[in-house]
Amino acid sequence: MSRPTQANEQESSQSIRNIPEHVAIMMDGNGRWATARGLPRSAGHEHGVEALRNVIEASVDSGIRYLTVFSFSTENWNRPKGEVDTLLKLLRTYVKRDLKQLREKGVRVRVIGKRADLPKDIFQLIEKVEADTKTNCSLFLNIAFNYGGRDEIIRAVSKLVDDIRRGELGANDITEENFASYLDTRDIPNPDLVIRTSGEMRISNFQLWQTAYSEFVFLDVLWPDFDVNHLNTALELFANRNRRYGAVAQECS
Ligand code: FPP
Repeated sequence: MSRPTQANEQESSQSIRNIPEHVAIMMDGNGRWATARGLPRSAGHEHGVEALRNVIEASVDSGIRYLTVFSFSTENWNRPKGEVDTLLKLLRTYVKRDLKQLREKGVRVRVIGKRADLPKDIFQLIEKVEADTKTNCSLFLNIAFNYGGRDEIIRAVSKLVDDIRRGELGANDITEENFASYLDTRDIPNPDLVIRTSGEMRISNFQLWQTAYSEFVFLDVLWPDFDVNHLNTALELFANRNRRYGAVAQECS
């Protein structure tokens, strides 16, 4: 089958109805992609950054407002040191190289996850990219880095308990809404659509609170091979889902 032309690709994303406001992506399969080519796993992550660049551009073009990508989990520290170093280096080089372009495209960057544990230079880089893009609004890009859903919830509980101790919140006044305001994602809507690549079908400690009513699409493609056609496939699948949030389907009157 021949690849669609650029014009066809644009046409297909623009003709999709019901574009989700927030898409979250679990970019899985970098290691397998590299191993299949006899390359070190780091090569898979490097090609994964290219796929990410393309998806950011396609998201802006599709009218997606929020894009969250899972790029380093709290469990990824258990990988061999060389691979951890590659992932830390990729965040550094990505932010440094792409900052100008992200600014020009109107992308606002935010990093979610346990920031305090990161090397100091990465911490400062994160603060800089967030400050430098804070007035942008064409796409809200959230990079989950040193992120774990359970860790995020525990950090939120700890901040909430501090506020109760200080008398700023009553112990009987905890609601879903004010609890969510303690999460890293406090002013980000919940993901409408979660895409996981590589054929794995797990949540892997990603956005445990926020994905309660998200739609999931699992695609059998390794992340470095993910392109605008795969994004459009996921958007089409989402458009045909019937979201009921635990209620019953609305009937036409
Ligand atoms: C999962 O694939 C992917 C990751 C753990 C890292 C994802 C990171 C990137 C795509 C690039 C980093 C981007 C930035 C902005 C820092 P895996 O390694 O678990 O693959 P496998 O399941 O095939 O082994």
